[in-house]
Amino acid sequence: MLRRVSLLALAVFVVGCGGAEAAPTTPTSSPLPPPPPTVAVVTVSPTTGSLVPGESQLLTAVARDAAGTAIAGATFTWSSSSVSVATVASDGRATALTPGTTTISATSGAVSATALLTVNEGGLIAVSGGTVTALNGQLRLEIPAGALTAPTAFVVRPVAAPTPNARLLAGTAVAITPAITFATPATVRLRYPTALAADVVETQLRIGRLTDTTWQTFAVVAPDRVNRTAAARVTGTGTLAVFAPPPSLRGYAQRRSFDIGAAVSVDALRADSTYRRVLAEEFNSVTLENAMKFGPIHPAATTYAFANADTIVGFAVANNMKVYGHVLLWHTQQPAWLTDGTPTRAFLLSSLKSHIETVVARYAGKTTSWDVANEMIADNGTGLRRSFWIEVAGADIIDSAFVWARRSDPNARLFLSDYSVETVNRKSDSLFALATRLKAAGVPIDGVGLQGHFMLPTPSAAQLTANLARFAAAGLDIRYTEIDVRLMDGTDNLAVQGSAYGTIIDACLAQPRCKSLTTWGFTDKYSWIPGTFPGFGRALPFDQLFGPKPAYLTLRDALARP
Ligand code: G3I
Repeated sequence: MLRRVSLLALAVFVVGCGGAEAAPTTPTSSPLPPPPPTVAVVTVSPTTGSLVPGESQLLTAVARDAAGTAIAGATFTWSSSSVSVATVASDGRATALTPGTTTISATSGAVSATALLTVNEGGLIAVSGGTVTALNGQLRLEIPAGALTAPTAFVVRPVAAPTPNARLLAGTAVAITPAITFATPATVRLRYPTALAADVVETQLRIGRLTDTTWQTFAVVAPDRVNRTAAARVTGTGTLAVFAPPPSLRGYAQRRSFDIGAAVSVDALRADSTYRRVLAEEFNSVTLENAMKFGPIHPAATTYAFANADTIVGFAVANNMKVYGHVLLWHTQQPAWLTDGTPTRAFLLSSLKSHIETVVARYAGKTTSWDVANEMIADNGTGLRRSFWIEVAGADIIDSAFVWARRSDPNARLFLSDYSVETVNRKSDSLFALATRLKAAGVPIDGVGLQGHFMLPTPSAAQLTANLARFAAAGLDIRYTEIDVRLMDGTDNLAVQGSAYGTIIDACLAQPRCKSLTTWGFTDKYSWIPGTFPGFGRALPFDQLFGPKPAYLTLRDALARP
């Protein structure tokens, strides 16, 4: 244990411990360092930057005093106003992350200076083991190892000077620089993650120099478009330019928060892989054409047949698509057990109630909306259709159907739909009267569905717009639920049909309360038209071989417009 020593002795010991006993010294004050100069001005250079995701740029800052003299050793605090667009390190190195603009600030003392950084679509790609992967995950070039003699890092940039934050839109050429030089002919594969497929449908691999006017375009081979693989035989050297062709209907619709949908046949979905692929690529919502109708899904009083509906709903959920339920109260495809004999009001009410509670509740959380009541208006427009529902159960069964549907799925939007009601006419007047009566009575109706089964000539934009406007003014959403434009066999009206589709979607897009357009089927290979209207067909945006028709192009161009 240490013996206690007096503090004085300890202090002396410490002072003197440097050697011979030192004479006590009186502390002397050394001159204080001069106060640091006050920062009067900070400048950053460069004051603007244009990068692609993954790239970085070193910014420098200088602080000056009031006399303009640079202050050596000044320290700066760096910041980015949008760290999702780009971050900046403490040394001023900015790293681009996602397309957008951000202000990079350098602060010293109380003074700051800024630079505007723009991050454009594109991205850095790096080579690893023969696979060239875009660091921003947008695209993945798979180039066999050994085929390259180029460096291991490339920049993907739009060829033209893009407007700030421009996305790789239709036909935007991008260049991968420095040029990817191929030592040997190789098969290059370009992959897009399916999740990003909405933005890019096909890819053209072109080899040449940006100055070339004749590009060697490779066949766009996308055998497994689910993975967006486009393979091409590459020979020679040059700049590999990747063209981002037009995205799908779905790609543009998603950017506008718009539902572009198609009615789905469960038989086609099960049997036809091209049907499945194009449906998932081009549409972000589905309507079940028949599988959820009363007869198919509820064939006997105590028997439900959910398999077909489950198949379509399962596909939609797996492909991140909305589901529109169709249809609860309708006069067609009713099961015999419901209509045979002389059903009473009480029987019909209890049967419909349990049907709605069972079916709507089963798909709650997957269906985003329902056609609750369909084709309730008489064709001549003189009030309600005299179906067995109305004749036996009474008109208030419509009100009840909406109430039961809301209780069964509070989150689903509920619609009243009909056909030949797309313009202002006697039938749509009656639909308007019914919809507004329901709304005024506090019935949970959210909107009306205008089916839109057309033949040429279709209504004018003014006619469509006026009808949409009055339902919107009444506080109702509107959507086109079953669009098709049938053509008489033997006529070559594809261009006119395409224009008609354009007029329809333009009218919807111009109306803020019209956020959805569904075609009734999407390929002429599977359509109800020929079987129902002999001598007519070709009503849909894709032909028998899933080729896009003018109608597809006008829908896509309309959705692409800002
Ligand atoms: O599934 C059965 C099959 O098992 C049976 O062998 C075959 C022969 O009888 O019939 C098949 O059911 C047919 C069903 O389509 C599925 O193909 C029905 O008979 C047939 O009537 C039904 O037609 C549907 C029609 O509504 C009537 O429900 C059409 O496909 C469908 O496109 C059409 O869609 C309606 C909307 O729901 C409401 N708006 C009008 C639109 C056109 O009518």
